[in-house]
Amino acid sequence: MTLIAPSILSCDFSVAGEEIARCERAGADWIHVDVMDGHFVPNLTFGAPVIKKYRRWTTLPFDVHLMVSHPLDFVKSVRDAGADVISFHIESCDDPAETLRAIKDSGAKSGLALKPGTPVSECFGLLGLCDMVLLMSVEPGFGGQKYKPETEEKAKTLKEYCSANGFSPLLEIDGGIDRTTAPRAVAAGIDVLVAGSFLFGAEDMSASIARLRGA
Ligand code: DX5
Ligand code: ZN
Repeated sequence: MTLIAPSILSCDFSVAGEEIARCERAGADWIHVDVMDGHFVPNLTFGAPVIKKYRRWTTLPFDVHLMVSHPLDFVKSVRDAGADVISFHIESCDDPAETLRAIKDSGAKSGLALKPGTPVSECFGLLGLCDMVLLMSVEPGFGGQKYKPETEEKAKTLKEYCSANGFSPLLEIDGGIDRTTAPRAVAAGIDVLVAGSFLFGAEDMSASIARLRGA
């Protein structure tokens, strides 16, 4: 079954708690929470203290996507704030295995994120430590960008490598997911669809989530 994770990057942050509760009522599976540091990516959001406040508004899993330099420094605080899945970028640190281990030791599920330009072969040696691989289908940093269809080829390659080598991480895609791109991503082997502008811009979020889930 495909999981749907609305990205709150596109929500009305003046009433973020209500927006998160609205995602749950609309049938979301996870809440996707983007943490940006203005250094690894040219945009800034928030960190653990804010996530902790958001945590009260839903019982759904928090899927935290770290777009920060030195992600290891953030694992503990983000986990303590209520993250259930913690992903970080392979491009953001020298020793991704160490950070993956720290995430698993914290009790969260570990996710490794790859920018559009990073070949999936870069993560092959780390799959034993990954509960999830997040394939970015836009450059990380901003919502509302155009989907990169070449991500589908990466998903297929990764899926084949995983089944040939006995790995079974969830595959998540993030960026430009809507009613047109979702079915293509799912056909390429994606398990978790992140969607920001499509879901928060929808007139009826539940219908839009149902549409993505049926992709
Ligand atoms: C971008 C973020 C995404 C973003 C996706 O760096 O990681 O989660 O919210 O937004 P859409 O779905 O609008 O492309
Ligand atoms: Zn994200």
